[in-house]
Amino acid sequence: MKTLDELKATAERHGHGHLFRFFHELNDAEKAKLHEQVSAVEFEVVNKLVDDFVKSTAPVASAADLKPAPVVPLPTTDEQRQAARGARAAGDEAFRRGRIACFLVAGGQGTRLGLNGPKGAFKIGPITDRTLFHIHAEKILALRRRYNAGVPWLIMTSDANDAETKAFFATHNYFGLGADTVRIFKQANMPAVGRDGTILMASKAEIALSPNGHGGSIKALHDSGSTAWLREHGVDTLFYFQVDNCLTQIGDPTFIGWHLLGGSKMSSKACRKRDWKEKVGVFGVIDGKLNVVEYSDLPESAARETLPDGSLKWWAGSIAIHVIDLGFIEQLNKGGFQLPYHKAEKAVACIGADGAPLALKSGEKNGIKFETFVFDALAQAERTVNVEASREDDFSPVKNADGDDSPMTAKRDMQEMYARWLGAAGTSIPRKADGTLDCTIEISPLTSLEGENLAGVAPAKIAPGAAVLL
Ligand code: UTP
Repeated sequence: MKTLDELKATAERHGHGHLFRFFHELNDAEKAKLHEQVSAVEFEVVNKLVDDFVKSTAPVASAADLKPAPVVPLPTTDEQRQAARGARAAGDEAFRRGRIACFLVAGGQGTRLGLNGPKGAFKIGPITDRTLFHIHAEKILALRRRYNAGVPWLIMTSDANDAETKAFFATHNYFGLGADTVRIFKQANMPAVGRDGTILMASKAEIALSPNGHGGSIKALHDSGSTAWLREHGVDTLFYFQVDNCLTQIGDPTFIGWHLLGGSKMSSKACRKRDWKEKVGVFGVIDGKLNVVEYSDLPESAARETLPDGSLKWWAGSIAIHVIDLGFIEQLNKGGFQLPYHKAEKAVACIGADGAPLALKSGEKNGIKFETFVFDALAQAERTVNVEASREDDFSPVKNADGDDSPMTAKRDMQEMYARWLGAAGTSIPRKADGTLDCTIEISPLTSLEGENLAGVAPAKIAPGAAVLL
């Protein structure tokens, strides 16, 4: 680490000397903390972002440059079903050989849900109140049992929730997975800047920092020694997923098989958008490279475009489920961190030049945060594969406190999936006049991962209003 004088000079040279404005007022612990925070700031990177995004506007991809991306469809013909069975066999085999690890990104701040603490600790089980972390853990335990394989679990956290996440796992005895098989590590931070491009201070002793986006996972996997650790464990392929999607078919062997058979470096699941307005990025090819175009970057006229059969042209929404080749992650880290940053205008709690907290007007976005997105790695992958997923089986995220993508819709979608599984196993399911379920259902991933193993345990009939826990 640089000495204080060196660090002050560096900050000064880059136009951020104000970071030390109140240094003389701090106690020793605060001084040490600020010294550490400023040491971690990459001033060249921040100033380049300020030049690109604050002082000018970075160009947004135009829809005219974009072509729809090829997607392996959900199988509807015999030929497609046979191909899917081949992919499944390849995925099963990779699991049995111990080649697969699961990788959860859980460093986000969950601001829309309005939570304090890790989103994974959110209770979502319709009957048991199982948390998101618990459900994910049981899926991984079920995979280990099914394939008699190690299936390590990596979890990326951030300063915002690392200590609480580790404590949560320790308190719950790692949900029976074994502490040495669950590797929890932190992503890096980026400072937020004000409208004038200078780094904001959260207090006299702290920079306004926030996690560097889920794209930071590519760097954090490397910097934390996790890529080397995975190699030691014989893993060469990662199943990537997000903490808030309670339906994710973690380790879906068919998806992994498509990735492996396609010689892909990074593969993605795509869901049909609910409607043109749904706030998900869409897959598109620009200059021969696969991209996910953020919903905010796709003009409304393009988002509304339809094909002759009336379906959306830009139907393939990204649901942030990927399979990534470990060698590709190593390659992305060779020349330093290579993913581009995006800007997000946000309300950032900070102090003013006089050291007092800045009073923000309601809705005022005084700051700019910089984030990287994992899907930007797709454009650098030599080969990619996209596979269509069905929303009912794979995507119901908990993003908002109410409305769409909320705890209410997640619980509803989980139970509808369980009802489909039970229905297929012969159970008669009660419904209300409006078609919604007239019962409560929860099935542990340890009982069934994808509707299998229910023949002997599914009841013949569920009474209206009853609760069924399997
Ligand atoms: P979101 O973009 O939904 O962000 O993250 P969020 O932080 O969970 O929620 P909001 O936007 O503050 O309401 C999608 C996934 O990426 C992870 C999140 O934990 C979630 O699993 N993520 C996001 C990170 O791991 N690090 C980040 O810096 C950002």
